Amino acid sequence: MRGPIGVFDSGFGGLTVLRSLLDGLPDHDYLYLADSARAPYGARSMDVIYRYTLEAVEWLFDAGCPLVVLACNTASARALRSIQQRHLPTHRPDRRVLGMVRPSAEALAGLPPGAIPGVTPPANAEGTVAVLGTQGTIASDSYRLELAHLAPRLRLVQQACPMWVPLVEAGELDGPGTDHFIRRYLDPLYAGPDAPRPSKLLLGCTHYPLLLPRIQAAVPGDVTILAQGGIVAERLADWLHRHPEMASRLSTNATRTFVTTDDPEWFATAGAPLLGRSFTATRAELPGR
Ligand code: DGL
Repeated sequence: MRGPIGVFDSGFGGLTVLRSLLDGLPDHDYLYLADSARAPYGARSMDVIYRYTLEAVEWLFDAGCPLVVLACNTASARALRSIQQRHLPTHRPDRRVLGMVRPSAEALAGLPPGAIPGVTPPANAEGTVAVLGTQGTIASDSYRLELAHLAPRLRLVQQACPMWVPLVEAGELDGPGTDHFIRRYLDPLYAGPDAPRPSKLLLGCTHYPLLLPRIQAAVPGDVTILAQGGIVAERLADWLHRHPEMASRLSTNATRTFVTTDDPEWFATAGAPLLGRSFTATRAELPGR
């Protein structure tokens, strides 16, 4: 039986990814799950993020999703590899879970979709690039590990921005307080004579595109800022093209369903600007495992 693409985030940041998926792959059905009751995940330990993410992924599988996209860097960096290597082969061999780190690292390296570390020749890209993310994403070193294979000559600077998700979740998208915390994490990259001055900046957290105007204002004008929504939509379309066995199991009636573990009315109201359209949501409990 065919089913929707499951899209998971700890909260509503993943709606920025879903927005691009709806633009790039509009015919597919989507089931978006936000674990708002337990967000943010950013500073939680690896074990907890793995457990929460697995509960969410299993919920989406039970709801009929053959494929789940983790539209959350923290979950992708902390839990995806274990889910792919340990959980799926024994418990769900017919399902797939994809994340944010690989497609974003490919884009940072300037590689086309589908590069395979150790098989595809590494990119010759040089210079310095930066990844901004939650504490969990940066602590995992996932971007460094991925780029070490894909573009070994690229120098990577990683910067955790722990205050940015709380600012976005609180709707504090501009103003002096927000600018203070924008500069607090960007000045080490660009201010001062010894700053590394990366030429590309990856917004490695799905909440951060909401802060884009303030981030742009805080970095030199020639810096390229990469948001993940477009990258992931383009690379998912390519992945489905290369995996017709999965593409044929996805339903295409252009339905969108939104579920949250916290108040659905609040989620729909706060999430509409991120998705770029209004929607309604329902509530679900994630069973502990
Ligand atoms: N939006 C998530 C990400 O991309 C993180 C938000 C959180 O800390 O839960 O990393």
